[in-house]
Amino acid sequence: MGTKLNAPGISRRKRSLGADPLVMLTAYDAPSARMADEAGTDLILVGDSVAMVVLGHENTMSVSIDDMAHHAAAVARTRPRAMVVVDMPWMSYHVSQADTVTNAARLVRAGAQAVKLEGGVERVPMIEAIVSAQVPVMGHLGLTPQSMLAQGGYRVQGRSSEAALRLVADAKALAHAGCFAIVLEGMPATVGRMITEAVDVPTIGIGAGDGCDGQVLVFHDVLGLETRVLPRFVRRYASMHSDGVGALARFAADVRSGAFPGPGESYEMNPGEEDMALGLYGHRV
Ligand code: KIV
Repeated sequence: MGTKLNAPGISRRKRSLGADPLVMLTAYDAPSARMADEAGTDLILVGDSVAMVVLGHENTMSVSIDDMAHHAAAVARTRPRAMVVVDMPWMSYHVSQADTVTNAARLVRAGAQAVKLEGGVERVPMIEAIVSAQVPVMGHLGLTPQSMLAQGGYRVQGRSSEAALRLVADAKALAHAGCFAIVLEGMPATVGRMITEAVDVPTIGIGAGDGCDGQVLVFHDVLGLETRVLPRFVRRYASMHSDGVGALARFAADVRSGAFPGPGESYEMNPGEEDMALGLYGHRV
């Protein structure tokens, strides 16, 4: 089982200080959380990617604080050793500081040990408000899916030197505001390295190269539960969609051929009761 991981411990995990790389996986329900935890992941992210990979929405902007609390609670009930971080959905931290803190508290009461939110220096007042309510915050910079309308789609960020330095400045502002770790998504590896060197909290990359302090991927992408075209930064370690469809098709064939259920998959009556029941019923079945 091991000691439960938490924000202060994670915040010290810089590779430059000799720490092992952090491993984070998304999970959205009890079975996926148990699998991620048994695999030894350090952090479980109840990501707003739940919108697409579980709930069938087009983008992450469709999920609400109620959706995130519902999935966070399912993950937290498994009591994983991994630290549970929950995404604040779009518009749950944009309106006012009071609203932001109330929404963060909702996720903590559902089981979050920390919340994650997207954006740079413009988010500092909201981050400070959550941190002063004693809730750890993870930042998220670069390709931020909740900004897909403003960014004109899902585009790699920080390709120009000006944009790269803006990201470094954003990361410093997030760390200064009290973020205990920062996700870096969809940016050149050089920019991932620059940011990782510039801040003293760990960076966790997704499409941000090998220089980050850790890596995160989406559960369904790693296991091949999805058939959609994957971004180039994903490495698939299993083909659970095709394995699963094959298994379900064998079940359907067994039902249709009468091979399922067999005697070992059926129950018996108490000794002596069967003949009595059939006699009373009138004929054998
Ligand atoms: O929602 C999510 O899955 C995420 C990861 C991509 C970091 O935010």
